Parts: sequence; structure tokens; C-alpha cells
Amino acid sequence: MAGAGVAVIGLGYVGLPLAARAVECGLTVIGVDVSRVVVDGLRAGRSHVEDVSDAQVQRMLDQGFRPLLTDDDAPTAEVHVICVPTPLGADGGPDLTAVRSAGAWIARKLKPGALVILESTSYPGTTEDVLLPILQESGLQGGRDFHLAFSPERIDPGRSTHSYRTVPKVVGGLTPACRDAAVAFYSPLVDTVITTRGLREAEMAKLLENTYRHINIALVNEMARFCDLLDIDIWDAIDAAATKPFGFQRFEPGPGVGGHCIPIDPQYLGHYVQERTGEQFRFVHLAQEINAAMPDYVVSRVERMLQERGRSLNTARVLLLGVTYKADVADDRETPARPIAALLTECGAQVLVHDPLLPEWSPPDLEVTPVAIDAIGDCDVAVLLQAHRTFDLPVIAEAVPVLLDTRGVLPRTSAGVERL
Ligand SMILES: NC(=O)c1ccc[n+]([C@@H]2O[C@H](COP(=O)([O-])OP(=O)(O)OC[C@H]3O[C@@H](n4cnc5c(N)ncnc54)[C@H](O)[C@@H]3O)[C@@H](O)[C@H]2O)c1
Repeated sequence: MAGAGVAVIGLGYVGLPLAARAVECGLTVIGVDVSRVVVDGLRAGRSHVEDVSDAQVQRMLDQGFRPLLTDDDAPTAEVHVICVPTPLGADGGPDLTAVRSAGAWIARKLKPGALVILESTSYPGTTEDVLLPILQESGLQGGRDFHLAFSPERIDPGRSTHSYRTVPKVVGGLTPACRDAAVAFYSPLVDTVITTRGLREAEMAKLLENTYRHINIALVNEMARFCDLLDIDIWDAIDAAATKPFGFQRFEPGPGVGGHCIPIDPQYLGHYVQERTGEQFRFVHLAQEINAAMPDYVVSRVERMLQERGRSLNTARVLLLGVTYKADVADDRETPARPIAALLTECGAQVLVHDPLLPEWSPPDLEVTPVAIDAIGDCDVAVLLQAHRTFDLPVIAEAVPVLLDTRGVLPRTSAGVERL
């Protein structure tokens, strides 16, 4: 079988856009995944990732892109990029099972002179301490026989203001030659490549970015709670503060953090710091505590809105609008809609959900009823959790009796609307 230029291992939100960009730049690309659903879909020209269209997948296939299962007979590649998930394990610590098995897959095929890059987010030391020994089971030595680098992925699914090309790529290598090999790989794909002193600095850069978001979201979430008690409009204060041309970045309160980065990556870092130094990363713990309490807070606000109208939560029909973890992305991983729905049910409320991106959303462990847009008025209170672009918000606000706007997107003056 002829060799491939690039093998992308893990074809999800990170791997598929990378594969698409590499094909666009004229590279020969294979994509490898453990999921038959993913591979069969791509082979049939279907994308499961919003940032890559079906038409793009078809163009990729036309240009030689080959989606393969890990069990398939794959050609050897010059560059291997690992984009597999790095979730939390049952103990709340890092679960690197997928990184390990992707490494073992590569080790079976590794050829002298090849480049291996880890893009999955993990704690500092993962590339050198976990991945390198697995790759060296090939009999080849990293830094001498093959290059090894870490390059964190920084995509933001659903964001249209940046493309793969315009987001600078950070690269750290096991050796300077490894770093240079990775820079040479990414240079045609992106406008800017930034290098770090080593692997650990590149790994830490990604965790710093996401921990920074996590902590600043916690800051405004906590402020939103006491601003409500002090009768201060937090949204107005944020609008005013955001006019400062330097020294301030806008973050907004919300119903809780979701997805597979913000709630998880800082935990990787906290776990690593504790394990290696015995110290607690206190900021991470505090931010985690504050953000994790937001679903409870949302439910308490719903209860208060009902009580003000002479209703009680245990007989109410509560509609959740937007159940994905972020706006305009059909992804419900770690979505705050889950704990909110569970808490409402625990309180005796009947939970209705409406989300055009996940119209049938009804996880088996939750008691929720999906409703169509023309049935949203049949509730006692609605909670806007995600402001999808496709929502006609003024029409929605008009259709429901009262609405808690957790995203601060509806005008303050709308009748029956309260902001978080
Ligand atoms: N999604 C984001 O916004 C984002 C942004 C930056 C970084 N990251 C990080 O990138 C990594 C991947 O995230 P994602 O969102 O693309 O995940 P994803 O779940 O969308 O995709 C991962 C893919 O890897 C496949 N896979 C799992 N184990 C495998 C294995 N052993 N071999 C081959 N394929 C395997 C899965 O079937 C899946 O298709 C994670 O570490 C994540 O934290 C994600």
C-alpha cells in the first residue's frame, strides 16, 4: 500500500478540521478513528462536525482523503497527529486511555524519520512521560530516530471570526530538531507558528488558556449572584467595563460551564500540580466550585420567579431553551442543561426542552420531554440556557409566560423577562 503524508488519529472536533486543512494544502491524508459511525459517515461524505461541511468532506474524499478504522490496514505516514479525547476518569483525574492506544497504534507503524505530534489537551509531561515510552516500543528512539512534538489545538467550534489558518499554532518539541520538524509541518497550514522552549511549556500554554477562561467565568458568575442580591445590573456593569481599551477582557455569567475543555482541562492541571508538588491549585478549585454551583443557582432563580407569581416549583412546567453546552454547536457534553434538568425534576417540576440543534434530546437518565417550537407556550416558566442564532428571541419571549434569560441577550425592558 502506498504511504500517506499525514495520518490524523481521532476525527472529531479537532481532528477533522485539521485533516480538512491538510487536504486543502495539498497533503495526502488518512484519518483514523475507532468509531465505525464516524468512519462510515465520512466515507459517505457526511460530516459530524459543524465546522466542516458535507461538501468539504466530499471534496476531501475527491482529493484522496481516506477515513479508516484503527483495525483497517493503514498505510505508513510521515506525520502522525493525535487528536483523541482526554476526558476525566471515574476518580476525577486524567483518563489518557485514548492517547495511550493511539500511541500504540502509531508505534506499530512508526518508521525512521517520522514526526509524531500530540494535539490532545493534557497535563505537562504527557508527551514525554506517557506518549514517548509507548512510541519507543517500536524500537525507535524519540529525538534520534523520530521526531516528537506537542501542539495544542485552539479551535472554538462554531466561531466564524477565525479559521484554521488564522489561529496561531503553538509548538514545542522533544528536541530543537523535533520542534523544527513540527514547525515545518504546520507552516503551510497556518499563518503563524509560535514555538515554546520545550514540550511542557506548550502543554502548559493550553492549560493556561483554558484555566484563565474557567477562572474569569467563575469571577463573573460569582459577581452575578451578589449583584442580584445588591440590586446591581451585572450586565450593565460588564458592558461599561468592557469599554476599557486595555487591561480588561469581557466574560459573561451563564448557567454553568460545559463542553470538554473548560470544565475538564483545569482539572487536569489541578490534579497534576497536586500530584507533583503536593500543593493545591486553589484558583482552580474555587472556580470549579463556583461554576459547578450555577445550575443550583439557576433553579433557585426559577423558583423565585414562580413564587413571585404565586406558583410553586413542584407543580410547575419548566421549559429549557437550548440544551447544548454552547450556542450554535450540536454538542451536549458536560452541558449545564443536564444538572439543571435533574435538579428541577428532583424538586417535582416537569421539565420540557426545546433545542433545534438537538430536537430529540432526552437522555435516558433524565426525565425531560422535548417539545416543538409551536408548543413552547405551554409552560409556566422558560429558561434560556443557550442563545442559538436560529432562535427568534423576541418571538420566544412573547410566547412564554415568563423567561429567565441566563445569557443576557434579551432587552432588560422585555415584559416577563428576567436576566440572570
Ligand atoms: N473540541 C474542542 O473545542 C477542542 C478544542 C481544543 C482542544 N481539544 C482537545 O482535543 C482533543 C480531542 O477533542 P475533540 O473535541 O476532537 O474530541 P471528539 O470526541 O470530538 O473526537 C475524538 C475522536 O477520537 C476518536 N477516538 C477515540 N479514541 C481513539 C483511538 N484510540 N484511536 C483513534 N480514534 C479515537 C473518537 O471516536 C472521536 O471521533 C481533546 O483532548 C480535547 O480536549 C478540543
